[in-house]
Amino acid sequence: MKKDGGAMHRARSFDHLKGLDGISDSQLAEHLDLYAGYVKQVNALTQELSEMRSERRASGKDFGLAEGTRRLAFEYDGMVLHEFYFSNLKPGGAARPSDRQAFGRALAETFGSVDHWQENFQAMGGMRGVGWVILFQDPITDRLTNHWVSLHQDGIPARCKPLLVMDVWEHAFVRDYKVTERFKYVAAFFRNIDCPVVDQRFNEEPGLRSPSAVRGDHTSISSR
Ligand SMILES: [Fe+2]
Repeated sequence: MKKDGGAMHRARSFDHLKGLDGISDSQLAEHLDLYAGYVKQVNALTQELSEMRSERRASGKDFGLAEGTRRLAFEYDGMVLHEFYFSNLKPGGAARPSDRQAFGRALAETFGSVDHWQENFQAMGGMRGVGWVILFQDPITDRLTNHWVSLHQDGIPARCKPLLVMDVWEHAFVRDYKVTERFKYVAAFFRNIDCPVVDQRFNEEPGLRSPSAVRGDHTSISSR
């Protein structure tokens, strides 16, 4: 089997997240297992599509190419968004940024106040359907906007940088809350936000490579 020449991915460890307020360790462990599955699927699909290219059997009418290409967008964004999500949580986190953080000041400038932003973000967390609520920054204008992303890949604004990522798929909370109690999970999410991480994202250059990517390392692919 031919190897793909691009980057493969390794599931990241988020062991430091144990002890979140309102998101149990067992819920978290199950969610991390699911994330590792996305990493595995990204690597498998990347390999399959690479083989199609190298054997020149890909055409626009080919079902495998079409399905694999569309699925890669789902699996890849599922992997990356979960990394953003787990990374913007921590035990002992905060519900809101401080006024000293650039991200907090930008929220107030864009939304009128941090409270107004939070109200809108949490309300979007109650929207019907499965997906994500994400605060994005346009790196050209620095403008901040809240977005709903369906599944993992539909509705991501081009070029924009994710700052705060909240998973509102039911798998993110059904061990801890009823499916009709998503608002309790959203409230718990807000008690665990790692605001310094969000502030760092606000200040860093866009387009940084996902830390899960391991270029040329084909031996460490997630075995899930
Ligand atoms: Fe998830």
